[in-house]
Amino acid sequence: QGELRGVVALDGPSGTGKSTVARRLAVALGAAYLDTGAMYRAVTLAVLRAGVDQEDGAAVLRCAEAADLRIGTDPTSADVRLGDEDVAAEIRGPEVTGAVSAVSAVPKVRELLVATQRRIISEARGRLGGIVVEGRDIGTVVVPDAALKVYLTASADARAARRTAQDAAAGRGSTVDATLADVERRDRLDSTRAASPLRPAVDAVEVDTTDLDIDGVLAHLLDLVRDRDLST
Ligand code: DC
Repeated sequence: QGELRGVVALDGPSGTGKSTVARRLAVALGAAYLDTGAMYRAVTLAVLRAGVDQEDGAAVLRCAEAADLRIGTDPTSADVRLGDEDVAAEIRGPEVTGAVSAVSAVPKVRELLVATQRRIISEARGRLGGIVVEGRDIGTVVVPDAALKVYLTASADARAARRTAQDAAAGRGSTVDATLADVERRDRLDSTRAASPLRPAVDAVEVDTTDLDIDGVLAHLLDLVRDRDLST
């Protein structure tokens, strides 16, 4: 594979293998990578630390504005910081995961982060030509003119099983039942919120990953990139 030209938008709910596939796709294409979920998570961590009520939109926004959020675009390293502090591990913990839907539902927080995301994307494109961006609203809101939009899905059971395995690998104990309940709760919150609900862009290619492994999904996405002449 050669170099990617333009933006690949990768959206969908959690547990579809989205992050792993997005990183590997970026590596295969010599492209940059942006994990927008990590940005919502880092802001959520700042909100929790400030002891601010997550339902108080104005206070949450002040916290988001004050947070010195820094995120890298190298697909081979998870670089997320608040100021100088590495928070890449802490933002994956249960406290942040439990609060992130409320924080990411605040419209002004989304505006702030979308503006930051567009800046990072345009800077990375200037440097490398292409970037893989993953999230929930990349194809619909952040980069509506992305060269390729993919929406990954999988059954709720398959997604819960994958998240449980990921948690175990990261040393966090959880059961499939509890994880399934959390997956369904977050799906509901993310797809029914008023601001940028989770849904596929009309021109997105939907890929059901229920019966595919990561290599299978990656091969499919590389085919799509090739079909569209997006890599040199
Ligand atoms: O992909 P993730 O699980 O790290 O995302 C964490 C949360 O952030 C998820 O509940 C939805 C939200 N999110 C969002 O609203 N918009 C994005 N572009 C990315 C994530």
